[in-house]
Amino acid sequence: MSFMELCKGRCSVRGYLPDPIPQEKIDYILECARHAPSAANRQPWRLYIVTGEAKKRLEAAYSKSWFAEAPLALAFVGNRRECWVHSDGTEYLMCDVAIFCDHLTLAAAEVGLGTCWIAAFDKTAARQALQLPEDEMPFYLSPLGFPKPDSTRAKSRKALADIVVWRQE
Ligand SMILES: Cc1cc2nc3c(=O)[nH]c(=O)nc-3n(C[C@H](O)[C@H](O)[C@H](O)COP(=O)(O)O)c2cc1C
Repeated sequence: MSFMELCKGRCSVRGYLPDPIPQEKIDYILECARHAPSAANRQPWRLYIVTGEAKKRLEAAYSKSWFAEAPLALAFVGNRRECWVHSDGTEYLMCDVAIFCDHLTLAAAEVGLGTCWIAAFDKTAARQALQLPEDEMPFYLSPLGFPKPDSTRAKSRKALADIVVWRQE
């Protein structure tokens, strides 16, 4: 699969089979995510891989049935103490964690696994479910599992002409 095919083929999956995920696929996507770039190479991310009772608790933070369906839940978390902050005050924590998440979700698509970025979750409930320390911020959740056959749909994107600006002078 070319990178272009991967970019076009990855999509938000909102329907999962209960089938377990082979460990080698998990190892592969973790290793891809580990190589993500970050501001000043701080790598301020933590990935919580959530199963069992902890997953049941985390489901309270996002009540959609497809989130509960998948065999694993992922929580992409940033550590505030570790992130780089621009001299103008801009914190790059959410950005770094997003790049990590993007690497992982693309790698998952490459090996036939579904994911869906979730930001609209209850952060307080997630903090409690994951027992996060004070300096760790939960930014995104995702289910991880094999997609149900009918769980993907066509993607809609703006045209390049609407998003790219070439400036010369
Ligand atoms: C930062 C971010 C937050 C998102 N939060 C949610 C969410 O809370 N719930 C949801 O169903 N989808 C969520 N999505 C998925 C987007 O709706 C989806 O990526 C977008 O519609 C494009 O579709 P595609 O992922 O299939 O290409 C989120 C995506 C991103 C990048």
